[in-house]
This record gives sequence, structure tokens and C-alpha cells, in this order.
Amino acid sequence: MKSFIAELPKAELHLHIEGTFEPELMFKLAERNGITLPYGDIETLRTAYNFSKLQDFLDIYYQGMDVLRTEQDFFDLTWAYLTKVYKQSVRHVEIFFDPQGHLIRDISFETALNGIYFALKTGKQELGISFEIIICFLRHLDEENAFQTLEMALPHKDKIIGVGLDSSEKNNPPSKFAGVFKKAREEGFRIVAHAGEEGPPEYIYEALDILKVHRIDHGNAAMLDPALIERLVKEQIPLTVCPLSNTRLCVIDDMKNHPLPRMLDAGIMATINSDDPAYFGGYLNENYEAVSEILGNSPALLAQLARNSFDASFLENSRRKLLISEVDNYLRKHLSKET
Ligand code: ADE
Ligand code: ZN
Repeated sequence: MKSFIAELPKAELHLHIEGTFEPELMFKLAERNGITLPYGDIETLRTAYNFSKLQDFLDIYYQGMDVLRTEQDFFDLTWAYLTKVYKQSVRHVEIFFDPQGHLIRDISFETALNGIYFALKTGKQELGISFEIIICFLRHLDEENAFQTLEMALPHKDKIIGVGLDSSEKNNPPSKFAGVFKKAREEGFRIVAHAGEEGPPEYIYEALDILKVHRIDHGNAAMLDPALIERLVKEQIPLTVCPLSNTRLCVIDDMKNHPLPRMLDAGIMATINSDDPAYFGGYLNENYEAVSEILGNSPALLAQLARNSFDASFLENSRRKLLISEVDNYLRKHLSKET
């Protein structure tokens, strides 16, 4: 199954670019920027990646991103991600970044955006990977701060397709951001939100009814509510599921108990994503590999997940169709070799 997954064309729809910061690059950029990390070496840093809940991870994730200071840093970070996933048959990426995580450190909106954007543009030209950028509001901050961040995004509508919501979910419901998402919708942005990762099904309802999301990021808690499952199926609201993230953050106790097979059985449009691959032990292919067994090592189901990734994307229709037909042809060739 590993080789089937390796060459399966696929899209990544839930990826925090700051979560791709590998320790090797972190130490290199820290040295370039004259920063001393609170860890003696790469191995010591890696041993800190032992999380029992989302907040444990977020504390280390925000500490890690403090090393990112210049446009070149954001370019190098994004370029390292692209060259890695190019080798994983990733054809399209929709990348999150956290402007407020940088603004709070006096790094301008444009420093981060331009570094990320120019790397993605280079990736499109040189590696053929199409892309979109989504900014996320940090939900542990207040709505006013999100409004200020949205204002900064307005002159960059040509580079930013959407607005999302991330960070500490518990006690920070989507309804806290009703006003700023209304404005974002009026400005023409696509809407996504993390919901039901650690939070309850009610937060998924709020994301749907108040924020009016196109996709739910994670959405695991939906499986606790049959009426919500039915609605997600009926409206074909995609879930961007992140298997390795779920086990590393103890959202799921064991991959064997991951709800993905039940989601697919129910008819939910689930996709596979890596979330913060440098922290959770794997990029996109490793996430597909992690769920392969619980899907019965079925090439047809893995191909369905890849097809869903393009279906659920914000791609324009002609490229979406082209990439879905690549998946179909790839599966057909594989199955004909088997018989
Ligand atoms: N920011 C980066 N990764 C996140 C996650 N898995 N949940 C919420 N916020 C995040
Ligand atoms: Zn996430």
C-alpha cells in the first residue's frame, strides 16, 4: 500500500505552514537570526514533542514560530515544505498561516505573507503544485484583534482566498467571531474553521450556522451526533481530517479507534491532511499510511480520499476535474495490474 499511496495524486487542505517547521531548519534560522533556542540541540527539542492535549502542542508551536523573523525565513519554511510534498505526489495545497502569531512579535503581515506567497509561486512554476492561502484567526484572542487582522488582509485579496479559525478550541466557540466572519464573507473570502477537534458538536453547528463555513477542519466530534452526521452528508460539507495529529494530541486514543471509516461509511466527504507535520510525525503520505489499515488497505478507499481532497478544494473546476481524472486513471492502472 505504501507504494500505491506514494504515487497517488492528492491535495492538502489543512496545513499550518508554521507547523512544518522542522527542528533542523529551526536551528539553522535561529543561528541566522542570532536567537538562542531554549533547547541545547535538535534531539532535546524533539523530546519536548510529547503532548497530552492541544494546548501542550500550541505552547511549543508558538515558541517555535518565534524564530521566523524575515521574509526569507517564511520563504525558506514554505519552500522546504513544498520540496518535501512534491516527492509525495501532492498536486495542490491550501495553506494556513497565523498572522496574529507574527504580528504579536512585531513581524508585519506582509513579511509573512510575501515570503509564503513567493515560495508558493515558485513552487507552482517549478514543481507544478497549485496553491491557495488561507489566513487563520487565533480564537484565544478577542474578536477586535481578528477584525484588525482582517483589515490587513483586504489589500491582499489577490493572494488570500479564505479565512479560518484555529488555536485553543475549548471555551472559544465560533460564535465569539460571528461579526468578523460576517465581514469576511461580505468581502468575498471563503470560510473554514477548526471545530470539533477538542470541542463539542455544538461548535460544529455554530461553524455551519453562524460562520457559514465551506469546510470544517477536523470535525471529529460530529460522530457523536447522528443528526449532525446526517446534515454533513446531506450538505456534503467536507471535513479535513488529520489522523496523526489526532493521535499525537490524544483526541483519539489509538488509530484503530479513529472515526474515519465510520465517516466514510456514513457518506461524509472526509479528506486526509497533515495539520502540523513537523510536530506530529508525518506529512501527507504518512497520514494516508496511518489510516490504510483501518480502511482494509483498500486502494479504492484511498483513491476516494484523494478524489475528495480535490473535490473539497477551492480549485477552479477545470484543474479540479483534471486532477480527479488523474486519480481515476491511477487507480484503474493499479487495479488492472493486480488482476
Ligand atoms: N494551530 C495549529 N495546529 C492547530 C490545531 N491542530 N488545532 C488548533 N489550532 C492549531
Ligand atoms: Zn489545524
